[in-house]
Amino acid sequence: MQQDVERVLISEAEIKAKIAELGAQISADFAGKDLVVVGILKGAALFCSDLFRAITIPAELDFMRISSYGAATKSTGVHRVLLDLDYTLEGRHVLIVEDIVDTGLTIKFLKDYLSQRGPASLKVAALLDKPSRRKVPVTVDYRGFEVPDFFVVGMGLDFREKYRNLREICILKPEIYES
Ligand code: PRP
Ligand code: MN
Ligand code: MG
Repeated sequence: MQQDVERVLISEAEIKAKIAELGAQISADFAGKDLVVVGILKGAALFCSDLFRAITIPAELDFMRISSYGAATKSTGVHRVLLDLDYTLEGRHVLIVEDIVDTGLTIKFLKDYLSQRGPASLKVAALLDKPSRRKVPVTVDYRGFEVPDFFVVGMGLDFREKYRNLREICILKPEIYES
């Protein structure tokens, strides 16, 4: 796996330090509030579990999984909910956790979808933010790192479902992407 890596963009130590920082910020911001942390499978599973452990206030952990329809998905942002939250969010503070915000279409869908359930607040935490690719404006309230428009893998981010278990954010060798 490591032999497929061209270069490391963000090291494990940098990621660790940033997650500690984000966890402290979230803990301060939501102190005394009823917080539900929602990781978006599969990509966010790794970041979300690290971030959740960096949160030092009482909070609930849950996951959603959504998929895009067909081939046009990434551009149309048509999504289908494969795993949903099955309880009320009325009056609760919801933090959506993503590995990356790219076009913003996934977050836009999720915010529209979850805001119908009357949460007291609906915020977004993302390990990576790629603003240069945005198709719809979305706010990332808790952002780990801004990344340039490279195809990155690791810490949950995949290329054809592989490389999610790399502990750094990496760029693969061109021949891997081309194969
Ligand atoms: C990736 C990533 C985000 C989304 C971001 O998920 O994990 O959820 O795309 O892209 P966007 O801002 O353009 O909507 P993907 O659909 O690849 O599924 P996965 O998490 O299971 O890998
Ligand atoms: Mn995802
Ligand atoms: Mg993916």
